[in-house]
Amino acid sequence: MPSSAEYQQAAAVIRQRTSLPVRVGIVLGSGLGGLADEVQGAVTIPYGDIPGWPQSTVPGHSGTLVIGKLDDVPVVLQRGRAHFYEGYSAQQVTFPIRVMHFLGVQALILTNAAGGINASYRVGDVMILNDHLNFVGMTGLNPLIGPNDDSLGERFPGMSGAYDRDLRNVARSVAQAANVPVHEGVYAWLSGPNFETPAEIRMLRTVGADAVGMSTVPEVLVARHMHMRVLAMSGITNAAIAEVDSGMEATHEEVLEAGKLLVPRMSSVIHGVLRALI
Ligand code: HPA
Repeated sequence: MPSSAEYQQAAAVIRQRTSLPVRVGIVLGSGLGGLADEVQGAVTIPYGDIPGWPQSTVPGHSGTLVIGKLDDVPVVLQRGRAHFYEGYSAQQVTFPIRVMHFLGVQALILTNAAGGINASYRVGDVMILNDHLNFVGMTGLNPLIGPNDDSLGERFPGMSGAYDRDLRNVARSVAQAANVPVHEGVYAWLSGPNFETPAEIRMLRTVGADAVGMSTVPEVLVARHMHMRVLAMSGITNAAIAEVDSGMEATHEEVLEAGKLLVPRMSSVIHGVLRALI
């Protein structure tokens, strides 16, 4: 399990390249990396240059950290993330969020690609997370397991307000003003890498999940442990399949294809939220 000293060492390596006082961290999920191209005065650091930083092995996740300004807000932006299914521990997957804390980040914007479970969701819609179901955590895999570093956060962090209400409200109004189809809902985290079975989708629907994906929740746990404000958004890239023998199958290509539609939508919401933060 990485220590505070390792997070600080990674932060120091990043600081050698730029002294920009970042306050907002952004994580761009599968196929959603396009916003990184809009960063002004971008300093780009390959993950491989940062000690301890997990590399992403998935197509659609480019693996660079970008630091610069978006809408005049100094941001640190992760273009691609590492996932639990790639073989990383929950602590390794969340290493970047700890490092962002040591860079000065106080608000975190997370994005992901997700399968739509709620029958009213369409491919290309944006779902603002207002809660989550941590199925991986229920199996005993949680990035906060292990000795607690009290200097980072408390032993038993609460999760009833994990998704910042003000940020959700801003994101929703910005999306509506930009005619982006938007919902608020519950995200279920499963490890993957396989897509869900129809029976699993029916179970998830029954227990109140609106969308399902393979990321984000461990990052939220670690961010809330350190009292960062969190905004998380899913891009609905495919409809989860709830019946056997439908002849349909979710694919990563489909996820990346829908990402093309979602990049401008997610980007406009993130721009609006950053402008509101100034
Ligand atoms: N299931 C899990 N993760 C996903 C999906 C899905 O249908 N789509 C994009 N990420």
